[in-house]
Amino acid sequence: MKRIILIGFMGSGKSTLGKKIAKKMDLPFIDSDREIEKRHQKTIGDIFTENGESFFRTLETEYITSLKDKEEFVLATGGGMPCFGKNMELLNELGTTFYLDRSPKELANRLYNAKTRRPLIDGMEQEELVSFIEERLSARDEYYKTADVILDRDDQSVSVIEDLTNLLHPHLQKS
Ligand code: S3P
Repeated sequence: MKRIILIGFMGSGKSTLGKKIAKKMDLPFIDSDREIEKRHQKTIGDIFTENGESFFRTLETEYITSLKDKEEFVLATGGGMPCFGKNMELLNELGTTFYLDRSPKELANRLYNAKTRRPLIDGMEQEELVSFIEERLSARDEYYKTADVILDRDDQSVSVIEDLTNLLHPHLQKS
């Protein structure tokens, strides 16, 4: 079983890095937001507007639970997923969790220029975004930091994650 799970705040680069890891290690890539959208035939934005955030959080828990049957994958989670209910415990049980740690300023720059629409920060100006991130991150950090591995910016690379995965699961290396 090789299950690599990337967690971190919105804009930390989970999906971009996850896709690269999956390609290099020949594993399927999953983005939980996209899977939830597919399953429910609605965008995350519409789920938030029509059903509310807490409903979205139940869909996230449901989704993690459904992954127990899947042997191998690289999963990029939604930014808030680890911070609700027992999700972080479930993620740690499921596979090896990697926290992509980034500073609020850097996240704000990345999010300000991002094309993806995110309901929680829609329409925010850059300064407002920095304070929003600082506030949320200080509440979320205690969850994120229970990841198996915490990666600083310079270590957030395919090779570091591949090496760590092989080190943690040497018997599972693909030839
Ligand atoms: C959220 C992050 C988003 C998405 C939703 C809520 C959050 O995922 O799940 O908009 O609470 O941080 P990304 O981290 O992929 O943007």
